[in-house]
Amino acid sequence: MRPSNTNILNGTDSSSIDGAVSALRGDELVAIPTETVYGLAARASSRTAVNKIFTVKGRPSIHPLILHIAKISDLEKWTKDLPNNARALVDRYWPGPLTIVVQRNQNVCDEITGGRNTVAIRCPDHEITTELLRRLDDAIVAPSANRFGKVSPTTAQHVAADLGDEVKIILDGGACAIGLESTIIDCTTTPPQLLRAGAITVEQIQTECQVTVVSATGESRASGMLDKHYAPECEIELFNDRDQAETRRSELSQLGTTSEILDFGDDLALYAHSLYARLRDADKRKIEVVIAVRPPWTGVGLAINERLEKAANRL
Ligand code: TXA
Ligand code: MG
Repeated sequence: MRPSNTNILNGTDSSSIDGAVSALRGDELVAIPTETVYGLAARASSRTAVNKIFTVKGRPSIHPLILHIAKISDLEKWTKDLPNNARALVDRYWPGPLTIVVQRNQNVCDEITGGRNTVAIRCPDHEITTELLRRLDDAIVAPSANRFGKVSPTTAQHVAADLGDEVKIILDGGACAIGLESTIIDCTTTPPQLLRAGAITVEQIQTECQVTVVSATGESRASGMLDKHYAPECEIELFNDRDQAETRRSELSQLGTTSEILDFGDDLALYAHSLYARLRDADKRKIEVVIAVRPPWTGVGLAINERLEKAANRL
């Protein structure tokens, strides 16, 4: 794909949002900023537009999409039989980096859910996208705006590098505050299950909402659960501490292999914020091996470790 920056518009300009709304109404795709990662958006009520997402991303149609809404009260338009657990989660965390899986109603087309009777839904926390949704007066579906299996984009420039002119407009809202995809909780099971770790943790949910969330069991239902996903071009090697990483860097350098260390100490928020951008940057500079020092397994560290393992998995 020829990288092009001509379709990047400043999302804080009201006219850019109007342009994006027109494009979405015309069944075109628009890239949008969120607090997690950039999304590739299509109008949820248009099957034609939803289908374009799978074509442009190169994503298998059995992979269901997340529906994005402007406000909590829009939940009723798309879902039914909302369990109390789900209600407690959205009241506490929306708008924010949490996706719930619940029963869908007839307004959600099969293309969105891959024919499932459940739908994944979230209310993103980004004023540009909230304003876009408000003016559109519809929901959007938005997977991460990268080609299937690649690292998610956290800036408008990342989206342009991956998708180029195949997306009509890229609304630039700056670098994503969090930098990792939303936490996904399946609320259709008892107890609810964690399908993908993110910035909101199960410990936090337990403490703040008194809702117990367990690890997912059964067949993989979220692409974050596939063995290989989020893969950059470079090799990724994981180490538990800085000293081991330095030793490995010396070894690689003696072999003539280019490498660099990824290490943010205990700063988990910075690690999450920087991870994908750093992997993309390493690829751009043709670094052969990224030596990542694992963050602690607490808070968002769990999600970072999970993404690192998937990125490192060469199977
Ligand atoms: O942070 C995010 O969630 C970003 C931004 C753009 O909002 N979006 C995102 O979408 O990460 P995507 O398509 O890359 O990931 C969607 C995940 C997949 O793992 C998919 O399997 C899961 O959501 N999913 C969607 N619908 C589901 C359903 N009905 N049941 C279980 N998992 C579902
Ligand atoms: Mg994705």
